[in-house]
Amino acid sequence: MPRISSPVFDLPSENGGKDFGIFMPIANGGWILSTTAPKIDGSYEYNRRAAVLAEEIGLDFIMSMAKFRGYGGLNQQWDISLDSTVLMSALAAQTKRVKIWTTFQTLLHNPAVVAKMITTLDQVSNGRAGLNVVPGAFKDEFAQMGAWPETLGHDARYDYASEWMSAVRRLWEEKGEISANGQYIKLNHCISEPKPIQKPRPFVVAAGQSEKGMDFAIHNTDALFIGGRDDAEMRDISQKAKEKAKAAGRRLRTYAMAIIVQEETDAKAENTMNVFREGFDEEGFRNMLRSYGMIDAEIGKENAMTARARTGFMAPHIAGSSATIIKRIEQVIDETGLDGLMLIFPDYEKGLKNLAKEVLPALRARYSA
Ligand SMILES: Cc1cc2nc3c(=O)[nH]c(=O)nc-3n(C[C@H](O)[C@H](O)[C@H](O)COP(=O)(O)O)c2cc1C
Repeated sequence: MPRISSPVFDLPSENGGKDFGIFMPIANGGWILSTTAPKIDGSYEYNRRAAVLAEEIGLDFIMSMAKFRGYGGLNQQWDISLDSTVLMSALAAQTKRVKIWTTFQTLLHNPAVVAKMITTLDQVSNGRAGLNVVPGAFKDEFAQMGAWPETLGHDARYDYASEWMSAVRRLWEEKGEISANGQYIKLNHCISEPKPIQKPRPFVVAAGQSEKGMDFAIHNTDALFIGGRDDAEMRDISQKAKEKAKAAGRRLRTYAMAIIVQEETDAKAENTMNVFREGFDEEGFRNMLRSYGMIDAEIGKENAMTARARTGFMAPHIAGSSATIIKRIEQVIDETGLDGLMLIFPDYEKGLKNLAKEVLPALRARYSA
């Protein structure tokens, strides 16, 4: 059995706990495709308040996505979004403890530029920076800026991302001049100074859902965001990813997303859900499916993802009173073996304040070291 290499990142998951964070509301509309959901504007001020609150209530990380084109529709969903890393650098200066994870799409950036940007973020945040590395999948998002290589298919984009990530890691970890002569990435006596504060390097996460995406995470990252139709499927994916990583001598955490709709009672939460369902943005939904490469003729055929999105939610949701939410989160974690959750709210200020009252303390007590 290979030796497991597991750098220390000062996260609860290293001591038997679970990691809880939020997906930053960096794009307008958040993750609910509905005209009757609260209007998230994706502004710096909205994000600043969410980040400061997330830190105040004791969450472990804040993460933002990289998004350059939205889905239009009635809500103009995600048509407005700030730059992930510039935003997170500002939020690093507004916080002291919470981890700051930003996203880079490998197709858009030279790895030496990103190595330096994350190192800068690590210094601004005093050792809290993390990198969510994604290959890019939405053709229109890249083609609009002439950055979609037609010759690079889905799996080849992950091969590209692997070389890219290896270059970033070497620039973080190795001293002196670094050269690489890969199929896609070249470094010619490349210098990258200073090095990150975190040793040996900052935290790296990925979010691929395919077999190839999982393989990329197994060999290159510390955590993988996974999905699944139900708890059993998530457990299988989580176990498989962890076992494959272990066999490769690495430790891989698994995380999932959850939209939390919390009200005083289950009935009130169901009522809120119904209000969101009534405003379902069918047009935005169709455009979102198109962005995933599904053509209009296929929209009639339901699968797990389309069925979920048809309810207006772009990620799995948990709705109810605090007691119901605690029970469901514990059930998901216990049945799947996840190492943490990235939470999303219809209204971040209300959601985070509610979370702090009973849900988060209960989860911390249940999953203490
Ligand atoms: C939690 C999460 C965050 C993601 N963030 C981004 C992002 O910021 N930018 C992006 O282009 N894609 C993002 N994606 C999409 C993934 O990188 C990936 O393309 C998608 O999950 C499909 O998986 P596959 O590439 O293995 O087919 C994200 C996915 C998830 C689940």
